[in-house]
Amino acid sequence: MNLQIKSFEEYQDAYKHSVENPEGFWGEIAEKFFWKRKWTNVLNWNFSEPDIKWFEGGKVNITENCLDRHIYNMGDKPAIIWEPNDPNEAHRILTYKQLLDKVETFANVLKNNNISKGDRVCIYLPMVPELVIAVLACARIGAIHSVVFGGFSAQSIADRISDAECKLVVTSDGGFRAGKVLELKSIVDDALMQCKSVERVIVLTRTRTPVSMIKGRDVWWEDEIKKVETQGNPPCPAEEMDAEDPLFILYTSGSTGKPKGVVHTTGGYMVYTGYTFSNVFQYQPGEVYFCTADIGWITGHSYIVYGPLSQGAVSVLFEGTPTYPDAGRLWDIVEKHKVNILYTAPTAIRSLMAFGDEFIADKDLSSIKKLGSVGEPINEEAWHWYHDKVGKGKAPIADTWWQTENGGILISALAGISPTIPGYAMLPLPGVQPCLMDEQGQEIEGNDVSGNLCIKFPWPGMLRTTWGDHERCKQTYFSTYADKYFTGDGCYRNPEGYYKITGRVDDVLNVSGHRIGTAEVENAINMHADVVESAIVGYPHPVKGQGIYAYVIANHHIDAESTRKDILQTISRLIGAIAKPDIIQFVADLPKTRSGKIMRRILRKIAEGETQNLGDTSTLQDPTVVESIIEGAKEFN
Ligand code: PRX
Repeated sequence: MNLQIKSFEEYQDAYKHSVENPEGFWGEIAEKFFWKRKWTNVLNWNFSEPDIKWFEGGKVNITENCLDRHIYNMGDKPAIIWEPNDPNEAHRILTYKQLLDKVETFANVLKNNNISKGDRVCIYLPMVPELVIAVLACARIGAIHSVVFGGFSAQSIADRISDAECKLVVTSDGGFRAGKVLELKSIVDDALMQCKSVERVIVLTRTRTPVSMIKGRDVWWEDEIKKVETQGNPPCPAEEMDAEDPLFILYTSGSTGKPKGVVHTTGGYMVYTGYTFSNVFQYQPGEVYFCTADIGWITGHSYIVYGPLSQGAVSVLFEGTPTYPDAGRLWDIVEKHKVNILYTAPTAIRSLMAFGDEFIADKDLSSIKKLGSVGEPINEEAWHWYHDKVGKGKAPIADTWWQTENGGILISALAGISPTIPGYAMLPLPGVQPCLMDEQGQEIEGNDVSGNLCIKFPWPGMLRTTWGDHERCKQTYFSTYADKYFTGDGCYRNPEGYYKITGRVDDVLNVSGHRIGTAEVENAINMHADVVESAIVGYPHPVKGQGIYAYVIANHHIDAESTRKDILQTISRLIGAIAKPDIIQFVADLPKTRSGKIMRRILRKIAEGETQNLGDTSTLQDPTVVESIIEGAKEFN
């Protein structure tokens, strides 16, 4: 699949070509994939609706590109190497042939359970091979998957299932994570008390945790497979999908309201994830590639499943966490499976760094050739540790900037080909046209400038809509600046034209690489009976990147310690443990403008400990509020 750039000069040529003739550029790349019928039109778009169509008229199934087309040459080569949570449990290898067989079988299971093209299927599974199988089985028959991260609560699952009106849920009895067992089925049971649309739950056996199976609704994965086998396990032909048919929905947090269901479609997403995987990681046949993300997030969708598999890669899938049973686990996996390419998040690097070098010093990491970073800005200290201790000073680092909405990497070095600077995402990939905008809506030209990062031309992997609410998609991404996709990130372009992402400019937090909406957390806190009002801000955290700081106005009679615990419990129940604040400060009032708007800028400064430099507070309803909040914050500094 010769779509790989081989040198920096080739990158520059490809970039130029992609801007001058985007349709020609992407058309040539799309030719490298298998289409059931070729497109009639490469691109049709406007950003005002927005209405974006790539490869219109093309018919395709992404699983034929990820599986079938590799069988002849590579059927016996590993597609997935699965490493379990417990290092003493045997790992599993699924070859491309085996993975295809299992995907077809489970696709038949879905069909037996009344799922067909266009139906929505919620997947709530631990990081086991069956998660990949379930995802691909949906794509095989054209069902739209909505994977929900295993750390989300029953309420979050219920919200996502209801929004997409999922007909079926795939889950497991439980999941192993570090030393714990997560009771996934029981969480699904709680969620489904609120969901009318779900007709069937398929339950995989993983932990043998006792579960209740509801008659007429719940069936075991293993029994359903047996049923297909007694039917002779017929092949499951890949459904013919329109290039613009939805492939999946993935929910992500924004600055307001509940999470949005970002919709990705089939053809463009396939081309974009395959192209970017091949180029950013400079993947060579046979290399072992390990992305530590969870498939519940976009990184797992694009760079554990679809991108690597469409390129015939060997993709490592890891069930556990980097610190279990100890902080050497990732290095043990690298050593055991001779990993050549490692793609992880700055928060993981920082947490492993904090354990000290003893967990990495004696590990054989000589197989590592290339490194990737994703999810949040990488600080220089973490970059150098990654470079020196993991890459032994030799492996290039691709700091990849992108978002759930983007489908794939937008700004990054190509490993070993482009220059790199610690903390810089560097240069846009071919086909990506970033620009920096000022507050007045004007583009900021030239170098050594900062502004709000926008993209002014479509790329094939971009979102098409937000599920059930196109207007929200338009308002969120395409209304801030006319005819531009607004990322929500701030960015600096240095004198050489290299890009450095400086973080969100909206009310979205990035905690351990997880995207969390402040409004969502505030709404959850406000549900607590003793809470009057709350405000959430982020503050710098040495391991998580950002920590969550909650200012809470509570009823007078509360006992601070027990109310704090109750609030944390409420958030775990309504969102999930990942959204729990690190600090909860009870306050008598919040700093508000005369029109009643909370001045978060001031709360952010206090959370950062920068109380000397609060800026103009004269527009506040009551400036004395600030003094008392500063006084109360001393407890946490
Ligand atoms: O702020 C940026 C940050 O993560 C946000 C997107 O989060 P999510 O949709 O969850 O996707 C994460 C994985 C693709 C962005 O708006 N972000 C992501 N990658 C980087 C980053 N910030 C700085 N550098 C990065 N490499």
